[in-house]
Amino acid sequence: MQKRVPNLIQQKRQKKVTMLTAYDCLTARLISQSDIDMILVGDSLGQSFSGYESTIPVTVDEMVYHTKAVMRGNDGPFVVADMPFLSYTVSLEEAKRNAGRLIKEGGAHGVKLEVVGPDCVDTAKAIVGMGIPVVGHLGFTPQAIHQIGGYKIQGRDSKQSDYLIDMAKKLEDAGCFAIVLELVPSDLAMLITDSVDCLTIGIGAGGDCDGQVLVTLDLLGFNPDFNPKFLKKYETFGEKSISAISAYKKDVESATFPGLENGYSSN
Ligand code: KIV
Repeated sequence: MQKRVPNLIQQKRQKKVTMLTAYDCLTARLISQSDIDMILVGDSLGQSFSGYESTIPVTVDEMVYHTKAVMRGNDGPFVVADMPFLSYTVSLEEAKRNAGRLIKEGGAHGVKLEVVGPDCVDTAKAIVGMGIPVVGHLGFTPQAIHQIGGYKIQGRDSKQSDYLIDMAKKLEDAGCFAIVLELVPSDLAMLITDSVDCLTIGIGAGGDCDGQVLVTLDLLGFNPDFNPKFLKKYETFGEKSISAISAYKKDVESATFPGLENGYSSN
């Protein structure tokens, strides 16, 4: 069954919402088969797929390309595409056009934007006004890494926590159906979750959010060097991949692969 905004909203206070990232068709297919509620075509693909140092270089064209690939594998989850750096902060007109591209060309069901400043509330409202479901993103916003100064927990002092609570309410008023809370103290995330009727989806924000999101490659353990406290690795595919690839190399060099069973006869 294709998940839609009303199905997801109904899950608040009833059933936790699950969200995972995908940047390609195969991952989207696996996530669909696992009955996950939502797929995020995250701009984290900047680091995880393209090898950039941050999400900042990611373009709308790249997001459209990856969203199309995800949609070809998707079967059920509600797909949200990230609006990349500079695609929604220059003017409302550009923001609306770029959000529209992710839906019309990419095929996403909704978009997510990082709330890098108070102006983003009006941007979210304008996009919702076009009939596009919007997810706001509060707390640590990776596109503002140079301003924030690193991967830091947000909302630890009262000024910051008041700001985040206020912004969450404003995003809900603007029509956002969900808010990602990244690197926020668990008690603050719980307070925000109780204060709004839209969904909160946490990453590094404790267990009381309405749902959780992780980067799929991280939960599968593809990067042995990435071990933040908020991450639970369910697999060690980084190490397993290296040993599988090394076994292949050994087999080819020793002429063990391909074997007779891997060859074709002439008739
Ligand atoms: O880009 C991304 O993958 C994200 C999640 C980490 C929330 O924004």
